[in-house]
Amino acid sequence: MASRKKNGSEPPKASGLRQGLATYGDAGFSLFLRKAFIKAGGYSDDALDRPIVGITNTASDFNPCHGNVPDLIEAVKRGVMLAGALPMVFPTVSIHESFSHPTSMFLRNLMAMDTEEMIRAQPMDSVVLIGGCDKTLPAQLMAAASVDRPAVVLPVGPMLVGHFKGEVLGACTDCRRLWGQYRAGTFSQDDIERVSERLAPTKGTCMVMGTASTMGCIVETLGMGLPGSGSTPATHSDRLRLAEQSGKLAAEMARQHGPRPSEIMTEAAFRNALTVLQAIGGSTNALVHLTAIARRLGVAIELEQFDAIGRKVPVLVDLKPSGDHYMEHFHWAGGNSRLMQEIRDHLDVSCRTVAGKTLKEVIDAAEIVPNQTVIRTPANPIKPTGGMAVLRGNLAPRGAVIKHTAATPALLTHTGRAVVFDSLADLAARGDDPELDVKADDILVLRNAGPKGAPGMPEAGSFPIPMKLARAGVKDMIRISDARMSGTAFGTIVLHVAPESAVGGPLALVKTGDRITLDVPNRKLELLVSADELEKRRKAWTAPPAHPGSDRGYTGLFHRTVLQADEGVDFDFLGPAAD
Ligand code: FES
Repeated sequence: MASRKKNGSEPPKASGLRQGLATYGDAGFSLFLRKAFIKAGGYSDDALDRPIVGITNTASDFNPCHGNVPDLIEAVKRGVMLAGALPMVFPTVSIHESFSHPTSMFLRNLMAMDTEEMIRAQPMDSVVLIGGCDKTLPAQLMAAASVDRPAVVLPVGPMLVGHFKGEVLGACTDCRRLWGQYRAGTFSQDDIERVSERLAPTKGTCMVMGTASTMGCIVETLGMGLPGSGSTPATHSDRLRLAEQSGKLAAEMARQHGPRPSEIMTEAAFRNALTVLQAIGGSTNALVHLTAIARRLGVAIELEQFDAIGRKVPVLVDLKPSGDHYMEHFHWAGGNSRLMQEIRDHLDVSCRTVAGKTLKEVIDAAEIVPNQTVIRTPANPIKPTGGMAVLRGNLAPRGAVIKHTAATPALLTHTGRAVVFDSLADLAARGDDPELDVKADDILVLRNAGPKGAPGMPEAGSFPIPMKLARAGVKDMIRISDARMSGTAFGTIVLHVAPESAVGGPLALVKTGDRITLDVPNRKLELLVSADELEKRRKAWTAPPAHPGSDRGYTGLFHRTVLQADEGVDFDFLGPAAD
């Protein structure tokens, strides 16, 4: 990790309702007007004299994962008031994976900017950030890092599991697995319809170790949320108690004007988060998100450091997609605190948390559950090394990532013929063509699916096996792209190739028939084409045409300023505040 810049925020000069007045050229009038308007809500002067705790409302009919947010808000408000502060709820952008076109990642930075600016603009001494569905917690952490006002993160929590014909299942590893079976003709139309009612059976986030669950664990590890807040099921009364406690804590932080996110999310805390990410076999997306959050605080996450952590830290959590269980099982096995106990030698346990405890105190208080089998010991790991590896080579000069715990071991060292799809549209048009010239040992390449190319770097990296091979029983092939993949997905998938093809990265130069070597043990990704030939192709390359709409508005801003995967896919102007 590289050096850290100081965040520019200073403690607010005024607190409560008196801070951040609207500008009318007369501060007294500004406060008078503010009071006049808020009294329309029936507030007394006593209420308005209290420290203010903002609470984000990310409930939305378009976001079923956040279905419990209204209940959580009520519990947070109760906690704030029990502690003698004034809760104020305000809406922000809410993003659900399946309801965001073109992809939720396209909107993450918008949510981060909205959340940051609404915290900055409105009078609050601290804030409780309620989020959960994949991009929401990263956006809120990015915002918290930038505005640097005391903040407690409260994930909405994971769903409970579903059941179908005696099988335990859940979103969305099983969504993909069963859809794959349906495509292959081994799962009936009737069953695929019926199972759609069982895969996401309650409110809350996907209950495998996908991006939402991974970020929940990371919130706890970074110290930005209470112990258990990442794994307590969304529908349990414990979660409401966590919400109440988060409200009380935020009220205390409002009074103290601290600790601030920059005091909690230190370089050491980010290193701890990367370590937990490896040990839980977490989502590849979390690496991009952590890079973006850290960058907001002037901390650079280096891919080689993440890879080095992965060589030492085993995967210990037996959850889908790397293992067999689901988040509620992880929770009842002791959750993230218990996991950290097993890897404490790899963690900096002196890091602070919002609750005022050190990580050591959190770990020491972990619940010990006899005979649980979900959180393994280093002597009996799920995998002897971490969940992810970083690849380099002439095909990925700025790195690529593979979740090798969710890959087919036999494919981790393989040389094969490239079959190239030029874009997502090309893949959709030709991927299932019975005439497609493709064999099981080929390497599928998808380009123009990165941050600028798609745009928004969609979760398209685990694109389907061509239909004719799927029907012949092929379950996995090496797939390489500049896209991301869902944390719930599995397969031998090389992701986040940087720089992406749309800006002239080497992926743009691959032709069908070229040979590619993937060598995960040696962290190599090589296009076996001579440097002279690649140079010739580079000179002949032209950038893809601009996407419709990229001449204006948010789409234009995104295209002009979005950074590459190794920089967190944040906007270039949202780095740390100047010293
Ligand atoms: Fe919301 Fe998976 S779709 S967490």
